[in-house]
Order: sequence, then structure tokens, then C-alpha cells
Amino acid sequence: MKIAVLPGDGIGPEIVVEAVKVLRALGLSLELETAPVGGAAYAALGHPLPASTLKLAQDADAILFGAVGDWKYDTLDRHLRPEQAILGLRKNLGLFANFRPAICYPELVNASSLKPELVSGLDILIIRELTGDIYFGQPRGRRIATDGNFPDAEEAFDTMRYSRPEIERIAHVAFQAARKRSKRVTSVDKSNVLETFQFWKDVVIEVSEQYPDVALDHMYVDNAAMQLVKAPKKFDVIVTGNMFGDILSDEASMLTGSIGMLPSASLDANSKGLYEPSHGSAPDIAGQGIANPLATILSAAMMLRFSLNQEEAAQRIENAVKSVLAQGLRTADIYSEGTTRVSTIEMGNAVVKALR
Ligand code: IPM
Ligand code: MG
Repeated sequence: MKIAVLPGDGIGPEIVVEAVKVLRALGLSLELETAPVGGAAYAALGHPLPASTLKLAQDADAILFGAVGDWKYDTLDRHLRPEQAILGLRKNLGLFANFRPAICYPELVNASSLKPELVSGLDILIIRELTGDIYFGQPRGRRIATDGNFPDAEEAFDTMRYSRPEIERIAHVAFQAARKRSKRVTSVDKSNVLETFQFWKDVVIEVSEQYPDVALDHMYVDNAAMQLVKAPKKFDVIVTGNMFGDILSDEASMLTGSIGMLPSASLDANSKGLYEPSHGSAPDIAGQGIANPLATILSAAMMLRFSLNQEEAAQRIENAVKSVLAQGLRTADIYSEGTTRVSTIEMGNAVVKALR
């Protein structure tokens, strides 16, 4: 089993190292190869997604990804910015289905900014479409001012767009995922205002006819954002577009105590996938050894489950994570009084120890 390891920027390298440690401790025959991506790749090779890195990702059975982005690249042309690496990987590899589970571990109930009774037992799954929508729609750009002077552009624009097949395939993913859970799907849209999302809703309803055993309801994105902090446990599977999914998954992550706990899987039509924490590169805390590696470690577990067909190993990792939480070990983001504060490396080591 070949795994491409792409650490990236900011805290990316620190957290990926811990996930790699955990993977190696499983004793499976995994071939891991590392390549630069994001700002780190731009600095080393002049491009955020060098051809050699893309090829490694294409040839691998699965990809373990850290995070990309750093303020120091904010002034680069957009096509050279670190974020283009992850967007390019998603698009080039056809990773259209993004799974972002938000589970509140009992030990972390007090780390959430919401009242314990609202989040205790929370287990929702956000399914975000990942290769369409306003992220990729054309045309986009800045309209050049009449004097031809780019910095003086008079307007900027992006195109929100979805095709029928794009909506159909993500809707199928959501209904099938719901069948393995509580058989409920909430489709989040903005059909009251946007043509793109009226179409989204219409197509989701059409697809739902093939899943009479799954209950479907619809919610506007603004209401969904509100309901997520009002009564999050009312949700089970949420399916939505790329942009709304980006925003709602960050919001949902805080229900679990910390965005540092949220793994993700981005899958193509054949379950080949890229696995990354839902959080970003956090350059403000990079190099301090305080980042939480658990989202990345849990992403590695998802990788074993979805792409490498190693359910047992996936569960070993998840149980090891539960066990370190039960031992009271906490990185800074999930620390609360009465628990033991540990560094990134100590957390990784503790998971390895619990595995054994
Ligand atoms: C995410 C991130 C990315 C996104 C950025 C880094 C391009 O926020 O994976 O949620 O917007 O999709
Ligand atoms: Mg995001």
C-alpha cells in the first residue's frame, strides 16, 4: 500500500510526523513517500503543486495531507499561492466527496464553547461537495480598469456553478452514507436567492426518489448555521456545496471541543482519497510544539478505513485516541482544569503507546 505524505506549511509538518509515527506503529506493510506541497513547495521548487508532487499523489493508493497556507505568500499571484496546491489536488484527482465527521468525545464535552448538554453525544457527518461551486466556476477575475491598470480594477467576480452530474453524484454519496447511519439527510442550500442552489435542491429531490428509506429535508444555509449552534444534535448527515460546506464544517468543528479534533476524507468515485485534518496550517502557532495532532491521526484512521480496506487498524487508532483522552492527556486547544497538558510530540507518543 503506497501512501503519499504531503506535510505542507505551518503546523502541517509537526502534525503529519505524529500521524506517520502512528501508522508505522501498526506493523502493516505501508510504503510512505514524502513530497513538498503548498508554500513549502513554492519555496523549494517555485510552485505550490510541483509536477513531481502531483505525480506521487496520482500514483499512490492514498494521500496523507497536512495543511497549506502562510501569510507570507499572500501577495503572490493567486495561481502560486499555497492554497492552490490543495485545490489542484482535489480537482486533478477528482476528489469530489468530502467527509467531515463532527463527533464530540465524552471527555471533551467541557472543551466545547457550547453547553455540555447541547454537544454531549454529538455525532454528525458533513458531506461537502469539493470540486465544483464558486471555488472552481469560470469566469472569474478582476475587471481591468479602462486605463488598463490592474491594481485599479473596478470590480472582481467569481462564478457559482453546478452541473447536474456533479450534484447527482454527491447526493448519492450522502444518501448511501445516511443508510449506514440514522437514515436522515439535510440538504443545505440557498435556493431562496440563488439559481445554482434551486437547481441543487431540485436535483437532490430527484435523486432522493431512489432512496425511499432515507428521510430528506432542506435547510437554508443561514438557518443551518444558526441551528448548528442552537440544536446541533438534530442533524445527522448534512450534504451541501463546496462553499457552504467549507464554512459549516469549521463551525461544526467547534461543537466537538476544538477544530484540532476534526479529521476529513476527500474521495473520488473509486474511494481513492486524500486525508487531512479539517483545520488549516495555523502559522501563528507553528514550530511551538503545541498543535493538536489528533485530527491528522484520526484522518489516518479514515484513510485505513476508506482507501486501504483496513477497518481493524482504523479502529485500533480510534480506540487509542479515545484511550489517551480518557487518560486525561490534552494539547493546549482542548486543555481544561484537572487534565494533563501535553505537547504535539507527547500526544503522538501517547497514541502509539495506547496502540500497543
Ligand atoms: C478547507 C480549507 C481550504 C478550503 C483552503 C485551504 C483552500 O479551508 O479545506 O476547508 O477552502 O477548502
Ligand atoms: Mg475550510
